[in-house]
Amino acid sequence: MKFFIDTAEIDEIRPLVELGLVDGVTTNPSLILKSGRDIIEVTKEICDLVDGPVSAEVAATDYETMVREAAVLYDIADNVCLKVPLTPDGLRTCKHFADQGKMVNVTLCFSASQALLAAKAGAAFISPFVGRHDDIGHDGMALIADIRTIYDNYDFKTEILVASTRHNMHILDSALIGADVATIPPKVVHQLFKHPLTDSGLAAFVKDWEKTGQTIA
Ligand code: G3P
Repeated sequence: MKFFIDTAEIDEIRPLVELGLVDGVTTNPSLILKSGRDIIEVTKEICDLVDGPVSAEVAATDYETMVREAAVLYDIADNVCLKVPLTPDGLRTCKHFADQGKMVNVTLCFSASQALLAAKAGAAFISPFVGRHDDIGHDGMALIADIRTIYDNYDFKTEILVASTRHNMHILDSALIGADVATIPPKVVHQLFKHPLTDSGLAAFVKDWEKTGQTIA
């Protein structure tokens, strides 16, 4: 499963690149606002830092303006993946660029029927928001399982990019279901390392090693 990092904060992306845990990055208008950066500048910096797809989201909601904004965003770098909302104008924009062989990530997906529409529009990625589903008492991971079934039934090439992930179980369940990608906030990536038995086991090794009185290097 590919790990995309869900942030526009360069200082949070860089250490994860050094760990080999970054297959791409996703941003959105809220993450750009949080970064306090200019979208063009920060997207360029991220594209220079990361080899994989970097999702940059349109701000417009109408087709004509989305197409104009897309030209600006795609021009930033070859690994820019345009991000559009799951609306009729968004999917029209998706088809317009997918037909040209360009990557499009369709976001704000909350149903399997929406995901079916995005695949038919040629989306490279579909972004179902599992955390926001959970927030209203629905089962976000059940949505991922349904989309996986539908895409496999018809051999759709659109990759399932699990978004709005909030904790380890979202990542683990995404991998068990067979999602292609999870986009993960940096703090959740760091949580994946944590296990109390690893901590206690390492402390015991260190303590016992000290008792040997030996050094290796
Ligand atoms: O990629 C979408 C993600 O940034 C949304 O996350 O936690 O605001 O639902 P959240």
